[in-house]
Amino acid sequence: MRRNIVAGNWKMNNSFDEAEELVTDIAEYLEKNPVDDAEIIICPPFIYLEMTTDVSAESQFAVGAQNLCAYDKGAYTGEISAAMLAGLDVEYCIIGHSERRKYFGDTDEIIAAKIQQALKENISPIFCCGESLAEREAGNYKEVVQTQIEEALANLSADEMDNVIIAYEPVWAIGTGLNATPAQAQEMHAYIREILLENFSIAIANNTTILYGGSCNAGNAKEIFAQPDVDGGLIGGASLKANEFIQIITAF
Ligand code: PGA
Repeated sequence: MRRNIVAGNWKMNNSFDEAEELVTDIAEYLEKNPVDDAEIIICPPFIYLEMTTDVSAESQFAVGAQNLCAYDKGAYTGEISAAMLAGLDVEYCIIGHSERRKYFGDTDEIIAAKIQQALKENISPIFCCGESLAEREAGNYKEVVQTQIEEALANLSADEMDNVIIAYEPVWAIGTGLNATPAQAQEMHAYIREILLENFSIAIANNTTILYGGSCNAGNAKEIFAQPDVDGGLIGGASLKANEFIQIITAF
C-alpha cells in the first residue's frame, strides 16, 4: 500500500544511552504532536531493537532492523533470523543497502533470499537500490537500477509486492552531503514505476511506496518529498539527531 514514510537508518551509531535518549525524544515529540500524514520507522542496530520496540509499543513509530539472515535458522554463527526479529515485533527490515553490498558481500541473489525470509515472517522489506558515481557518469544508471530491482523482486507475487517498500539511494549521495536534486530523484522514481509496470502491473507501479535516500536532511526533505513519485525518505546521518529527524518527519 502506497503511503508517506520516513525511515531512520541509524547504521552502526550510538551508545545504548544515546540510542535510548534519541528514541525517547522522538516518542515524546510524537505524543504531543501526532503526525497524521506519514508513517515513521526507526531502524537501530540489532542490540537496541528490544529497547526501541518497548518504546514504540506506546508510541506512533514502527521499528525496523538494518539486516537479517538469508537462511531460516541453525548453524549460522553471528546471524539474526527474520523469525527472531518478528518475535521482537520488528515490522520492517532494510535489505540490500549499498553498504551491505559493498562491505559484506550481499549479492543480488543473497538480497533476494533475504527478501523472501522477511516476507515469510510478515516483515516488510525496505529494499535499497541505486547506482554508483561511475555508473551515473557512464550514463547507464537506469539499467543498473533496473537489474537490481529485477534480480531482487521479479519473482514476487502481487500480494508480496504489496509489502515491499523500495528505497532509491544513489551511492554517490549516501553520507556525502551531495543529495540527488529533486529532479534527479523524480526521474529515477518515475523510472522505477516503469520497471514495476513492465514486471508486474499498473496497480503495483502506482501503489508501491518509493523512498529517496542519500544526504536527505531537514533542509532538502520538503522539496524532495514534494516530487510526485517520491513517497518519503530513508534517512541516515540526519536521523541521529532528534530535532533534525522531527523536521524531516513533518516535511510532507
Ligand atoms: P545518509 O544515508 O542520509 O547519511 O546519506 C542514507 C542511507 O544510507 O540510508
